[in-house]
Amino acid sequence: MSLFNGKAAFVTSATKLEECPEPILPEVCFAGRSNVGKSSLINAIVNRKNIARTSNVPGKTQQMNYYQLGSDFFFVDLPGYGYAKVPHRERERWGRTIREYLLNRDTLRLIIHVVDARHKPTTLDQDFIYWMATNEMRFCILLSKADKLSNNKVAQSKSEVKKILAEMNIEAPILAYSAESRKGIEEVQNIITEFIKE
Ligand code: GTP
Ligand code: MG
Repeated sequence: MSLFNGKAAFVTSATKLEECPEPILPEVCFAGRSNVGKSSLINAIVNRKNIARTSNVPGKTQQMNYYQLGSDFFFVDLPGYGYAKVPHRERERWGRTIREYLLNRDTLRLIIHVVDARHKPTTLDQDFIYWMATNEMRFCILLSKADKLSNNKVAQSKSEVKKILAEMNIEAPILAYSAESRKGIEEVQNIITEFIKE
């Protein structure tokens, strides 16, 4: 039985670690730049249209939004980074909050770092990857919006990201998907299942 066909429900929004729910279930979080498709990915994985709120305006997700899947685990939709219109001080504060969460949430099993398949990872993306690796976090990189590219271009993006990781001496699973066509979503579910089971 798939872990993803059961009941999915919104639990709570948190603005800092202390506001997160009791750490009673393993959890997977979704991180990445604003507008790359984190919330859409959650919807695709749980096969619901609008459990996580999405928008074509960057900066939609402003808090850490918790969803519970059956009695099995939590998904955490994190606010995106790199959105220019957010004031500098606000961005700093968020960076600290998210880092504190990622470093101290004992039940966190996997960070899903979403990167737009059409664009080379930015400096912020690369810094984040390096930070996760040096802090020995478990993460994977998912390339979103693959439906907007030819298969060839998707393969190219994947090998570019692979090369960037190799230059930093980092290994992590890399996978492309489309929340629109659902191509690759099953593979994403499989990765999550593996990390949850560990
Ligand atoms: P923030 O909450 O602002 O950090 O953004 P987010 O990363 O949660 O992005 P969101 O899921 O809201 O998606 C942003 C836009 O990209 C929306 O207009 C989505 O419809 C679109 N989008 C997301 N995933 C895909 C995809 O796989 N394919 C296509 N074509 N569009 C997508
Ligand atoms: Mg969002």
